[in-house]
Order: sequence, then structure tokens, then C-alpha cells
Amino acid sequence: MAKFILREHLENIITDSLNVFIRTQDSQGKLDPATSYPAIIKATKAAQFGDYQVNGILPLAKTLGTNPRELAQAFATYFAQEHSKEFAKVEVAGPGFVNLFLNDVWLAELTPNISHLQANLQAQTAQNIVIDYSAPNIAKEMHVGHLRTTIIGDSLVRVLEFLGHKVTKVNHIGDWGTQFGMLMAYMEEVEKDPEAAGVSIEDLDGFYRAAKARFDADPEFQTYARSLVVKLQGGDPHYYAKWKQLVDITMTQNNRTYRRLGVLLTDDDIMGESMYNPMLPEVVEQALEQGVATLDQGAVVAHLSEFKNKDGEDLGVILRKSDGGYLYATTDLAAMKYRVEHFKADNIIYCTDMRQANHFAQIEIIARKMGYLPESTKVTHAGFGMMLGKDGKPFKSRSGDVVRLNDLLDEAVERTQALLEARNSDVTGEERQELVNALAYGAIKYADLSKNRATDYIFDWDRMISFEGNTAPYMQYSYARIQSILRRHTLPATEAVLITNPYERNLVLKLQEFADVLDKVGSQLTPHLICTYLFELSGIFNSFYENVNIQKTEEKDLQESRINLINYTAKVLEQGLKLLGINVVERM
Ligand code: ARG
Repeated sequence: MAKFILREHLENIITDSLNVFIRTQDSQGKLDPATSYPAIIKATKAAQFGDYQVNGILPLAKTLGTNPRELAQAFATYFAQEHSKEFAKVEVAGPGFVNLFLNDVWLAELTPNISHLQANLQAQTAQNIVIDYSAPNIAKEMHVGHLRTTIIGDSLVRVLEFLGHKVTKVNHIGDWGTQFGMLMAYMEEVEKDPEAAGVSIEDLDGFYRAAKARFDADPEFQTYARSLVVKLQGGDPHYYAKWKQLVDITMTQNNRTYRRLGVLLTDDDIMGESMYNPMLPEVVEQALEQGVATLDQGAVVAHLSEFKNKDGEDLGVILRKSDGGYLYATTDLAAMKYRVEHFKADNIIYCTDMRQANHFAQIEIIARKMGYLPESTKVTHAGFGMMLGKDGKPFKSRSGDVVRLNDLLDEAVERTQALLEARNSDVTGEERQELVNALAYGAIKYADLSKNRATDYIFDWDRMISFEGNTAPYMQYSYARIQSILRRHTLPATEAVLITNPYERNLVLKLQEFADVLDKVGSQLTPHLICTYLFELSGIFNSFYENVNIQKTEEKDLQESRINLINYTAKVLEQGLKLLGINVVERM
């Protein structure tokens, strides 16, 4: 089966047809045989002008030196004959535009392809995609800063897998660095005398803060902490085990948050900074040998003419400090190499906030110079803006602290519970809990995913948990409403759909658009297009449902068609939400 996207299919038909036709009009050989002339296709604004307008005749008439209206008329006649299957009517308008009216019978026949959406979309070249997202730091709790990367990354994984790509999820956790000396030294003190320390390792933020305070206050402690860094880097098994314990405690807590959020990440996806540590000396030596980096006051620095520092000089990216230490950038360089070697990555996607865009662009330049990245391998920064409070400043708790992710999720659950009580939902027991979670976590995810990721967005509880507007609860409600309608009917044995009025027609056309949207999200890495689409679909469904009474439809074929249509709508809503990582519920 060849991939089928209605818009693309029609554009191809129209363009091909125009190019065949136009050559029959070129008695004087004015056209370039190698050129495909654009049909310049626009979706029309009003039904009386059909579905599409072809504007490419005008420039062609100019080239050929013929009358544009006559040329348009000749094309319209030719095209109407060639494509009577897809188009019911072809009309010339204005100085030489051609208006195309889709054939409702053909459209209706297409509709059951909604059931084979995935097979349809997978009929394209699969790529090896590595996606780097979430990446929290060890010995710290996840905070709201990790929300966007985690859920945007999760949605991109879902979409790319759905499109048939081989996706490798990478959780590049911050599990290496000199701070581990301090943490391990303090760990020993806490373990020796927990009472005196007054803090447990499980309380990650508290533990980190106490360790830092201890480190800052006592030079002897500092010396000892530094000696532990040396031991850890030298491969000392005792301190390796201590380090591992810190990683495990943190990731056990993070996994709980991941499960709560329903994201796909597991321990199998952990490829933290520590993993690349053994590769760093070689990478830096290679950079020196190849002349990509040079020694600069004892440090190894790659100077990039593509980036300037504040004095207007080539920017220097330090790969090794003069004390021999490596940096975040060095690790990312090694990671790029690794991802090409091990995963044969065609595309390496980084999902971090915009502030790291330059960092990845710089690493990419260095990696390309060093031959680590084949020309065919793309590097993509799927960057995102900041999460802001209603005051337009970075989102903080009332006391001005960073908000812990789990606290945010708790609040979402509380607010949703209150809202459901106010709505007198009669869903009870376990189903009630599921409903609360689906709504609460769905609301948070949707609010974030529905905005173009590149821009900052304002976190607003009331708006996101609302059952009105472009929100998860509204989509989930639309889905549940369709399910309640479907429970009153049996699903027809046939998948057939009929178009007998504009409401049905609009719905059919909108359903066809879903494949197009997913295809775009896959190439532009923009989940918000799914949200925009689902919101529009819900609107079109609502006006269909208000105007088409299924119960009172007497003709059996037509009633079955209408049941199929709402069933397809539910499937698309469910699939769309699932690709955003949001669950649907059958009842509210
Ligand atoms: N741990 C880093 C942070 O919290 C994000 C890592 C992103 N991935 C990478 N390959 N650098 O900012």
C-alpha cells in the first residue's frame, strides 16, 4: 500500500495533469522540458468556489503568449475528463483560475481508510531516530523545568514510532561531575550518624542542600570530597557502588514520576553522562590531532568561526580544561559519535529548552569537522520556550521556589477532584480514580503540548482544567460523549459512509486531514498541530451532531453511515490524544 494523504494526493494529481496538458499547448517550444510547472493550488474559502483553486494557468499563459481564460478553459475540460473520479465539477473563474469541486462519492469511499491509518502512514522510508529528552540530574528532584522536555519528548517518540521509524529513546541523565565527591563524602557522614545529619538521602533536594552547605563551610571536607572524585574516576569499586546508590535512589523516584505521567521512559533508556566518560580522552586527542581544536593556555579549545564571542572573535568551545577536566560539551560530542556508531542514527533529536540551541549547534559543527557525523545524519534541536507564571515571569511556587514536579501533579489531581465533585460526576470507585488521573495529567500535558513549543507559555490552572476551549478535558469529554452515543447503537457490519449534507462532508474532509497532520508533526516535530487539529475536529463534530439526528434517521444505510462517522471521529480523537500521551475515558 502506498502512503495516502488526501492533500498530497490531490496536489500530485493536479500538478501532473497540468504538466501533461500544458505541453500539448506548446507548439512553439517555449516551455522547458525539464521543469515541472507549479499548479499553485489554494484551498478555497467558500463552498461556491469549490474545494481548491488552481492559479498556475496565468503565468503559463504568459509564457506561451496565449489567452489565459481560454487556456484555463482548455485545461478545465481536459482535467474534468481525466479526473472525474476525484472531482465532480471543474470551473473556470476570474481571469484564468480553475476551481475544483471534490466528488462526494469518492470522498465517502475513502473514509474507511481511517481504520488503517497506521499502515497507511508507515508506507514511507523508516529512519533510525535517536531522541534525547527528559535528562534530569542525579541527586536532585525533578522540577517543573523537566516537564516540557519529558512530555514533548514523549509525544515525539509516540508520533515517530507511529509513523514507522525506529526510535531510540535516550535519557541523558546528569550522573557525572565533581559534585559527586561532595555528595559521597556527605553520604558517608549521613550513614555514620543519620540522627546528627538530620536529613535522609531519600530527601534528594534536602540532602543536596545540606551537602552543599557542608562543602562550602569546611575546607577539610572539600579536600576529602575531591579525593573521592579521584577515587571514583579511578574506578574504585567501593565509591562506584556509592555513586550507583545515588543514581538508583534518584532514578527510582524519577521512575515513579514517569509512571505517574504515563511517559514511556524506563531504565533501559538511561544513557547518562557517565557512560561517555571513558571515551572523552580519545575524543579530545582526536580533536587535537585533526586540528579541529588547539591548545590554548593549557586547555583544549575548538575555535568556531560560525559563532562569535562578545568581543567579536571566533567562539572557543572548551573540550578539556587546563586542569584536565572535561565539560558538558565534551560529553555531548562523544555522545553524538556514539549515537551514530551504535544506533546508525539518521536523525539525532535534542529536546531541551531554547537556551541550549547554540550548545548543540556548536557540538554539531565540531562533530561534522571531526567526521563523527555522516552528511546524511541530521541533528535537530527540538527546542522549547519557558514555562511562565500568570505574571509572565518564570513559573515559581508561592514562596518563590522552583516547583517540584510531583507537587505540581498533586495539585492537578486535587483541582480535578474538586471540579468533578462540582460537576456531580457519577463515576465511582476505581474508574473515578482513573478519570481523575486522566483529566489531571491530561490537562497539564495538553496545556503544554497545545502551544507551539518554540514559544514561552503561561501556566494557568483554570484554563487548562476547563471543560471548554482547546483543553484536554474538552477533548476527553467529546470522546466520552461519542462513546455514550455509540453505546446506544450497534456498530454496523459495514464501514461504509455516505455524504448527503455539508455536515457529513465537512466531517469526512476533516477526518482525512489527520494523516496529513501526523505526517507534518513527524517532520516538523510540532505536537501542537495535533491539538489544533483535534480542537477543530471536535468543533466540526459538534455541529454535525447538532444538525444530524442519528436517532431519527430512518433510512438504515444512512443511519449506519452516521454511526460509522461518529465512530471514526472517536477513533481519531483517541489516537490523537494517545499520541500526546493522554488517556481517554469511556464515561465522565
Ligand atoms: N541534564 C541536562 C539539564 O538538566 C540536560 C541534558 C540534555 N541532553 C544533552 N545531551 N545534553 O540541563
